[in-house]
Amino acid sequence: MTDHADELTYTSYLALPELLKLQRPRSEPEHPDELLFIVVHQASELWFKVIIHELDTLLDRMEADDALGALAASKRVNTLVRIVTHQLSSLETLPPQRFAEFRGYLGTSSGSQSDQFRAIEAKSGLRDAHFMQAISEHGEPAAAVRDALGRPTLQDTFERMVARAGTALESLYTDAAQTPLFMLGEALIEYEQGFAMWRFLHVQLVERVIGPMTGGTGGTLGAKYLSRTVSQRFFPSLWAVRGKFYGASQPK
Ligand code: HEM
Repeated sequence: MTDHADELTYTSYLALPELLKLQRPRSEPEHPDELLFIVVHQASELWFKVIIHELDTLLDRMEADDALGALAASKRVNTLVRIVTHQLSSLETLPPQRFAEFRGYLGTSSGSQSDQFRAIEAKSGLRDAHFMQAISEHGEPAAAVRDALGRPTLQDTFERMVARAGTALESLYTDAAQTPLFMLGEALIEYEQGFAMWRFLHVQLVERVIGPMTGGTGGTLGAKYLSRTVSQRFFPSLWAVRGKFYGASQPK
């Protein structure tokens, strides 16, 4: 018989005493809106953790040529990206003059220092010079980012999977049959769009709360800087293949 005190409960299984102590507003006296601000960021980081985990599952399944398993994993990733995006809307209830009352307490802390966000971007496919600079700006990249950079990107992994199946991206999009590989390509496009939606709604939120011209606590030009990131692509080849039916030249 186990000691009653050792019995697993909802509270102990979820480590709730520890978890619920981690929201530590810094404003003095405590601003009534700071708790929401902290929780939305913390909850987003928790979802980022799950997204990274599920992206690994997706990569593993693609490497194992398991198209249906990869489709299931991508469906989960896409659902999680939607959830993390919807959370942003709760901060639309934060009027600018109220945020101004506690923003000073944030110091130089900024979402641009989110290692998990950068790990998601790296796993997904970003490798351009601007991105590589962003991850090394604050010194040696975090382990999660290094790990992501050490793995082939989603696009490379997908293209290798397509090649191993003896076909090509173009063929997936010209064959009448909508094969599991084609569906997987479409799920990756959905992921890209979902992620771009987070970026877009985040810029809208930033403009709404601090205005279009205010610099960020992380030292960037704020909304002006962020709006440039909305059109970043993880899967340029999957976008390029869609234009082949129209004879248009692809943007450089
Ligand atoms: C009142 C709400 C928010 C404001 C005013 C805000 C403001 C900003 C600004 C100005 C930047 C540009 C970097 C800088 O100079 O600081 C930024 C970047 C970022 N923020 Fe927010 N943010 C808000 C909510 C959130 C939330 C809820 C998250 C969720 C984790 C988040 C995650 C990020 C990330 C990941 C970046 C880096 C984006 C990139 O470089 O592409 N932000 N934010």
